[in-house]
Amino acid sequence: MNPESAEHPILSGSVAEPKFDVGALTQAELPMSVPYQPIRKADLQPDSGGTQREVEVFFRKMVPRIPSTTYGTFGLYRYPAKFIPQVVAYTIEAYGAPGKRVIDPFAGSGTTGLVARLYGLDYDLWDLNPLLEVLHAIAVMPVQIVDISAIVREAMRSERNWLPRWSNMEYWYPAQVIPLLARVWGYHHYHHDTYVRNLLTVPLLKITRAFSFNDPQRQKLSRSPKAIQRVKSLLEGEWEQRFAQMLHDELVTVLQKMHEYQKLVGEPYEVKANVVSGVDSLQLATHCDPSWCRWDILITSPPYLQAQEYIRCSKMDLFWLGYSEEHIRSLAKQELPYKQVEPIAVRSETYERYRQTIEEAHLRQMYQRYFYAVLGTLDHLAECITERLCLFVGPATVRGRSIPIDRIFAEHFVAKGWEHEVTLIDKIAARVMFRSKVNPATGIEDKRMPTEHLVILRRSA
Ligand SMILES: C[S@@+](CC[C@H](N)C(=O)[O-])C[C@H]1O[C@@H](n2cnc3c(N)ncnc32)[C@H](O)[C@@H]1O
Repeated sequence: MNPESAEHPILSGSVAEPKFDVGALTQAELPMSVPYQPIRKADLQPDSGGTQREVEVFFRKMVPRIPSTTYGTFGLYRYPAKFIPQVVAYTIEAYGAPGKRVIDPFAGSGTTGLVARLYGLDYDLWDLNPLLEVLHAIAVMPVQIVDISAIVREAMRSERNWLPRWSNMEYWYPAQVIPLLARVWGYHHYHHDTYVRNLLTVPLLKITRAFSFNDPQRQKLSRSPKAIQRVKSLLEGEWEQRFAQMLHDELVTVLQKMHEYQKLVGEPYEVKANVVSGVDSLQLATHCDPSWCRWDILITSPPYLQAQEYIRCSKMDLFWLGYSEEHIRSLAKQELPYKQVEPIAVRSETYERYRQTIEEAHLRQMYQRYFYAVLGTLDHLAECITERLCLFVGPATVRGRSIPIDRIFAEHFVAKGWEHEVTLIDKIAARVMFRSKVNPATGIEDKRMPTEHLVILRRSA
């Protein structure tokens, strides 16, 4: 279709939504009106095992200040295995204070930073995945009044074209959709205003995925009959009109989420944020020296063994954001637990006991590499942490056998002189993970990750 045509559904004004009006949202119930209730240790119920140091919790209900797990820009993007914000908020309410400094070396979508900002803490976020910087920049943007209908109209008929350097586009997208994708992404990539570009990023990524033959249920990029059927129904009738409407609705959602987050922030603190992505955290950590690097608290959720491949999951989005195939491949090689790393001494009896039960050489190597890399990174950083290490993990499996990663972490740091304060155990209610009833690798019923664990370690006096 000729984008200049007067028959163009957008030009004919059939998507006639008003400008996004910030004022219209001010009637909504203010999240800040929920009374703040500090969490007391006495509220926590000991688990049935009765150990002093393991306590069952339900993080979702522990921080009334944050009304839901996807509230505001916490729900901007479905990053795999992301923190629910309440985990970080609980930790900061218990151990943080305005002006303190936190670091998350496996920050993913940046949840730790978004929560730290609410409580006035400075933060450093690191992640291998370049999406971190993109998502963080959007999540903390202030709301401005913008003319959404005009943005949609201009994007749909943009004269600038942009497509990723991707050899087999037609394998992933229907031929008739590619010119429109080129226009809207041309509008995005060449737009002079960073604010508009940021606003468009998540809506365009979502819609571009929706119009692709890729099956979102699979970690690896792959077509499936279900995905092909989904695209077929999106292409029925006035599909460009549908595309424009989706873009419009997604833009409204992003602005609403930004508005909700800014309401949570309330009167903003002066916060220093340092966000570094696209680099291996082990490399960064080796350059940290306690004589000039200091953080009060480390809060992180490292990968859970090989439960998830983050770069692979983000591949399609990274292409559209302008990353080349070679660049993405080189990032994937640095991902834990696949990256080759120097061995370290893992000071945990549990680690050794489980290691000996893994017979297959490649699985044993993956297991060792995982702990060398994660604990190697944390060992370097721990020297720069003055108060607490807060490590959030799930009991991932190797060949159907659950590995108590949390216990291994706790034992390792206790052996290095840290005090194990408590492990808080939460039942997972909803997580963006790839689960199936039967684990395809083992044929065993999938019992992966029934709970998640927050290990809290205190620097000994
Ligand atoms: C469980 S996710 C963290 C999710 C995060 N807590 C959030 O709320 O979005 C683990 C993260 O480790 C990152 N990661 C894996 N290997 C890495 C490496 N070598 N260096 C830095 N980050 C890495 C992944 O990209 C992923 O984002």
